[in-house]
Amino acid sequence: MDVIYRGKTKDVYDKGDGNYLLKFKDDVTGTDGVFDPGANTVGLSIEGAGKAGLKLTKFFFEKINDAGIPTHFVDADIENATMTVKPAEVFGKGLEVILRYRAVGSFFRRYGKYCNEGDKLDSYVEVTLKDDERNDPLITDEALEMLGIMSKEEYKVLADLTRKIGEIVKEEMAKKDLELYDIKFEFGRVGEDRHIALIDEISGGNMRAYRGDEYIEPLKLEQIMLA
Ligand SMILES: Nc1ncnc2c1ncn2[C@@H]1O[C@H](COP(=O)(O)OP(=O)(O)OP(=O)(O)O)[C@@H](O)[C@H]1O
Ligand SMILES: [Mg+2]
Repeated sequence: MDVIYRGKTKDVYDKGDGNYLLKFKDDVTGTDGVFDPGANTVGLSIEGAGKAGLKLTKFFFEKINDAGIPTHFVDADIENATMTVKPAEVFGKGLEVILRYRAVGSFFRRYGKYCNEGDKLDSYVEVTLKDDERNDPLITDEALEMLGIMSKEEYKVLADLTRKIGEIVKEEMAKKDLELYDIKFEFGRVGEDRHIALIDEISGGNMRAYRGDEYIEPLKLEQIMLA
């Protein structure tokens, strides 16, 4: 199989049959050997991290597909830590969509003059560009259209899908007594009609979750969700 891209935590292969294969690695992002899901460099390797991330991704993508929301998911091979997906064209050079239910992280760092840390937010959607050199800058729908990255109509579809997907994830987590504070998704254009679909992964490192006042770190979150 031809390797298309070697990412920080996953490698992307062309299966040659019209689909791609994502290989989930045990590498996790972090700084100075400390696991940090928000970091832009690979910090360390944790045995089993790839498989655990894939298991949770499979769990959520099946639920989202069942709800009739388009995704790239075809199937998963847990033993080999691989997932077969439909190839997507990303927006521009790739972007991330963040959905926020609580004012924490970079939201609170930016807007702390106007809110308290942990305040409830009403399913607030933000988009950032995947650009490590520029620290993944925030971008508005106007700039996205002006720069030829996506139209305002596509933005509306994307924001609407994001809120629907977030509800599904949030409800599943609530069943395990976990509260979802925020979550990050990726989208792309899939198929001949280039419809907008959820791509990439939904693992512990893509979200912030709490049980009461206790922050639940990604690997523990995966254990709880899959138990
Ligand atoms: N269906 C798909 N078609 C094409 N590319 C995809 C698809 N699903 C995911 N990708 C891309 O595959 C890559 C996976 O690599 P990885 O998750 O390691 O991330 P990365 O790009 O190195 O960095 P980041 O930390 O910003 O996610 C990402 O660039 C992601 O956008
Ligand atoms: Mg990634």
